[in-house]
Amino acid sequence: MDVKEAVLGRRSVRGFLPKAVDPAILRRVMAVANRAPSGGNVQPWHITAVAGAPLAALKRAMAESYGAIEPEPEYPIYPPHLPEPYRTRRFTNGEQLYASLSIPREAKAARLRWLGQNYQFFGAPAALFIHTPRFMGPPQWADLGMWMQSVMLLLLAEGLQSCAQECWSRYPQIVRRFVPIPDEHVLFAAIAIGHGDDTAPANALRSERAPLDEVATFIGFPD
Ligand SMILES: Cc1cc2nc3c(=O)[nH]c(=O)nc-3n(C[C@H](O)[C@H](O)[C@H](O)COP(=O)(O)O)c2cc1C
Repeated sequence: MDVKEAVLGRRSVRGFLPKAVDPAILRRVMAVANRAPSGGNVQPWHITAVAGAPLAALKRAMAESYGAIEPEPEYPIYPPHLPEPYRTRRFTNGEQLYASLSIPREAKAARLRWLGQNYQFFGAPAALFIHTPRFMGPPQWADLGMWMQSVMLLLLAEGLQSCAQECWSRYPQIVRRFVPIPDEHVLFAAIAIGHGDDTAPANALRSERAPLDEVATFIGFPD
């Protein structure tokens, strides 16, 4: 698989088959992803990979807690008043996802139930939690993203799919009951990993992107 194929082929998969993930593949992928760049080569990423009994216990706890227990967010996921054009991009993505699931706007309970699927890792049998010491700042958080994208592309080349999930940063107190993440680390996100279920309605979604000229400016190049 070449790089372009991998970048274009990756998408967030939100429905997985109940088929275990080979830990040897995860180790291989993560060892290569460790070649991701980071400012000053600080390598601020810390990863806890989870499957089997602890993952099942966490999923059970979240099934009981979601909607009943107050989140304790590690950080605000979005700015409080996301302005245009970001607001519309986010809104459109959500609406397209719910359309793929045939959940109408007014079906609040169904939408909440779907959000709860995040906390079942959409059925994925393996997950990575990505955390970093609390003293790290925005440049190091950006490095975490480099590592995560590297993993997600490499997984694809191994026949596995994934979904990055910052939603887990809302319930660190529950995650920490089952996953040994040090208190002095901020839980940034998780990645759900598994064999994608092609028949899952959510997996029909192809997210949009703004045209290049909306986000990029070129100066000084020849015409
Ligand atoms: C850091 C990060 C966190 C994300 N968190 C979530 C999440 O909590 N739940 C979810 O369903 N998708 C999550 N996503 C997936 C985005 O919604 C998705 O990447 C975006 O809509 C573009 O779609 P694509 O990944 O299919 O190209 C996250 C993506 C990133 C990069």
